[in-house]
Amino acid sequence: MKRKLLTILTVVLSGMLFLAVGVLTATDVPDSVKISNTGYKKDKKGPVILHHKKHHADYKVACAECHHDYQNGKNVWKEGDPVKKCSACHNPKKKQGKVPKLQNAYHKNCKTCHKALVKAGKSKKAPYKKCNNCHQKKK
Ligand code: HEC
Ligand code: HEC
Ligand code: HEC
Ligand code: HEC
Repeated sequence: MKRKLLTILTVVLSGMLFLAVGVLTATDVPDSVKISNTGYKKDKKGPVILHHKKHHADYKVACAECHHDYQNGKNVWKEGDPVKKCSACHNPKKKQGKVPKLQNAYHKNCKTCHKALVKAGKSKKAPYKKCNNCHQKKK
């Protein structure tokens, strides 16, 4: 009887530990993210795979180049802060004041940087023209 209780306790405790670790690592940078939002007027293009970790670790792109939280027009987001989906603030159907609609938010973020790199001769392959260098084929 006592042993059974101990087993249950162990299970519960290790479960709690797992949860605690889970919470602590919740802000881990995913290796890659599949960007595939819904709610667009039309869903014309396939999903986009972003090599997330590579952008940070190998391409040396700061987190705050892509993640932000604007307060009084200033980006106050810093590493360790919670990360919201772009769609939490960018509407897929329309621009809201200074907040571009979702498709433009991605394109502006991704393509502007890539284009600048290519124009500056710092990269040959950062994609900004060919749609399918980012978008997968639609199934
Ligand atoms: C640098 C990468 C990149 C390039 C190049 C790019 N896109 Fe995108 N595009 C994205 C990302 C990321 C999204 C967001 C995808 C989502 O939310 O499903 C997106 C979303 C879209 C959407 C809205 C979602 C949909 O499926 O309807 C359209 C339309 C679109 N892109 C068209 C294009 C076209 C046309 C081109 C080529 C002229 C292009 N994109 C090139 C990254 C790119
Ligand atoms: C090149 C742009 C870019 C860089 C650099 C970048 N991220 Fe991201 N990150 C994204 C995009 C895009 C997503 C997917 C969000 C979406 O589409 O809604 C994402 C997703 C995440 C998520 C997952 C959110 C979820 O919904 O599960 C976390 C956590 C995160 N990023 C943290 C970081 C941290 C920390 C860094 C720096 C070490 C970083 N990111 C660097 C673009 C970037
Ligand atoms: C917490 C809300 C929030 C989240 C999450 C968010 N944005 Fe934004 N974003 C804003 C606001 C607000 C603005 C307008 C800022 C301003 O100009 O005052 C903005 C502006 C932008 C702009 C235009 C900036 C410029 O230079 O013109 C781009 C591009 C953009 N966001 C991309 C993204 C991408 C990509 C993601 C996800 C990785 C994302 N945003 C997540 C709130 C958010
Ligand atoms: C601030 C700069 C910056 C931003 C923002 C950025 N990238 Fe990149 N991206 C790079 C660099 C640097 C490379 C590597 C170019 C090279 O090696 O020549 C790259 C390469 C790529 C490549 C080709 C190689 C690979 O790793 O797959 C893809 C696809 C790509 N980026 C997608 C995206 C998408 C999607 C977004 C927006 C969510 C984005 N990038 C935002 C800097 C950026």
